[in-house]
Amino acid sequence: MGFPVAHSLSPRLHNFWLDRYGIDGAYVPLPVAPEHFSSALRSLAQLGFAGVNVTVPHKEAAFAAADETDDLAKRIGAINMLTFKDGRIFGRNTDAFGFRESLREAAPSWSAKGAKAVVLGAGGAARAVVAALIDEGAAVTVANRTRSRAEALTASIGGMAADWDNRARLLAGADLLVNTTVLGMEGKDALDLDLGALPKSALVADIVYVPLETKLLVEARRRGNTAVDGLGMLLHQARPAFAAWFGREPEVTAELRRHVLAGR
Ligand code: ATR
Repeated sequence: MGFPVAHSLSPRLHNFWLDRYGIDGAYVPLPVAPEHFSSALRSLAQLGFAGVNVTVPHKEAAFAAADETDDLAKRIGAINMLTFKDGRIFGRNTDAFGFRESLREAAPSWSAKGAKAVVLGAGGAARAVVAALIDEGAAVTVANRTRSRAEALTASIGGMAADWDNRARLLAGADLLVNTTVLGMEGKDALDLDLGALPKSALVADIVYVPLETKLLVEARRRGNTAVDGLGMLLHQARPAFAAWFGREPEVTAELRRHVLAGR
């Protein structure tokens, strides 16, 4: 469920797995206006759906509507997937898992433990990214245009808030840079950031995936940093959801990546 939802790549992703594993199921996009969200959610449970993913603008409303949520979802304050079971609605946030796994896939030997991470942005996606990094033992600094949002995020999840204007200086000695802002996305302004101070050994991740190769990632690769694109997080956040609904642990493969990208 999203609003709008027509652009979502998730139906292509889940339907690929359903087909691959021979499971008789379907994953459909459901455009639901915010004012109808909670009644639509209850109806899906009554209609016999196994569960549902929620995306913008429903992630906080879904958190409030779920009968039960796990601790990670409570810390993040938003959920992206729900499971219907015995008349109850269980909510989870699998974005943090998806981000962690996307780093693991792109840089298997990199470890967040003791790493210094700089996260740009303080929206819903940033909350999941910061929670994932803190849980793996990273020291996280969050720089956001609106500083009060970075402060609210770090107060509830962990890490330190910094001024947006300081973002280039924060990169000195960093092991990871993550862009969770909309900057660099098709139709938005570019991310204005000088990578000069960033060690060449650092990973650079962008959660934007339209375009897949953002200017940030192109520049990172050019100077020798390992770049992690935003499609990985999308693909990996879907794994625990598919497993919960359909009882099978799905695999993220190069073939899946190509199939999902062809849907754009
Ligand atoms: P999501 O929940 O998907 O992460 P969001 O809550 O709208 O989306 O967050 C978007 C992020 O992009 C925010 O960190 C936002 O900064 P503000 O909190 O100051 O709004 C950031 N962002 C959007 N436009 C920006 C711009 N022109 N310059 C800097 N940051 C921007």
